[in-house]
Amino acid sequence: MPAAHRSVSPADLSPPDFYQYLIGAIAPRPIAFASTVSAEGKVNLSPYSFFTIVSMNPPLLVFSPTSRGRDNSEKDTLHNVRAVPEVVINICDYALVEQLSLASAEYSASVNEFAKAGLTEVASAQVRPPRVAECPAAFECVVEQIIALGDAPGHGNLVVCRVVQAHFRADILLDGKPGIDPLRFEAVSRLGGDWYSRLTPENLFKVGRPNQRLGIGFDELPAHIRHSDVLTGNHLAKLANVERAALPTPIQIAEIKAEPMVAYLLNKHRADAAEQTRQLSLLARQWLDEGRVAEAWRVLLLLGV
Ligand SMILES: Cc1cc2nc3c(=O)[nH]c(=O)nc-3n(C[C@H](O)[C@H](O)[C@H](O)COP(=O)(O)O)c2cc1C
Repeated sequence: MPAAHRSVSPADLSPPDFYQYLIGAIAPRPIAFASTVSAEGKVNLSPYSFFTIVSMNPPLLVFSPTSRGRDNSEKDTLHNVRAVPEVVINICDYALVEQLSLASAEYSASVNEFAKAGLTEVASAQVRPPRVAECPAAFECVVEQIIALGDAPGHGNLVVCRVVQAHFRADILLDGKPGIDPLRFEAVSRLGGDWYSRLTPENLFKVGRPNQRLGIGFDELPAHIRHSDVLTGNHLAKLANVERAALPTPIQIAEIKAEPMVAYLLNKHRADAAEQTRQLSLLARQWLDEGRVAEAWRVLLLLGV
């Protein structure tokens, strides 16, 4: 039975109320800690979680300062990039999240949030705004386009930024190949309300790319596997990612009976077929969790014979 759903239309709610659903569900969002300068050279630093990468080549990032809800006025960051079309997008880790939040307070345009948030300016190599010394990653960017996304209070303004230089703290880099080690970069992101999330090694996991040779798919899973009440969608997807030619042969299915755990469960529950099926399905589930997909397939097909 699919879970109950509630439908909500933006036409039926005030923009701020609908926004609460948007920011709660579109989460976690990475945060651009954007450093800009005004025409007079005054530095500004503010966080923006309407932010992502949108192009590999050229390397483009976008973020969106909305107009202020109360009077539809422009935020200082937007004002600055119109005057000086350059920005450094700094990325904070967990150690900096309270300082990042502090910098979001509405200080007047003349106030430098680096000073208010206790952060250190470092001159950029290719653009005028400085970067944040404490941040583990920083992208110097040229602003290519600013696209107004409406005219009502709270409308977005998409700032399209082309990265011209990047800086990374050495300890977050992968050894021997390009990239960032997620086990050493405690990324923070924004959710709804006052909630944030933090990446830690315990909540990281890998999902293998779909099989290049094309797996059989859910629709071709045998019915007793597809309707098993111990296997979740994630377990079934791992099974469905196996191509037909790699499915176990009748000999391999017969041989799995000799595997010690399988042999033990077959014997222990020999008088209760339903319990035997359940226990072997649980073993297959455990193997799927451990990445032992071929063995899981063998046990599950044994149940179907
Ligand atoms: C984590 C976080 C994310 C934010 N994301 C956005 C955003 O995506 N767009 C936006 O307009 N304001 C966002 N804000 C609010 C701005 O940071 C805030 O309005 C700030 O005062 C703008 O500063 P400025 O006027 O100096 O540019 C965010 C605040 C925080 C703390």
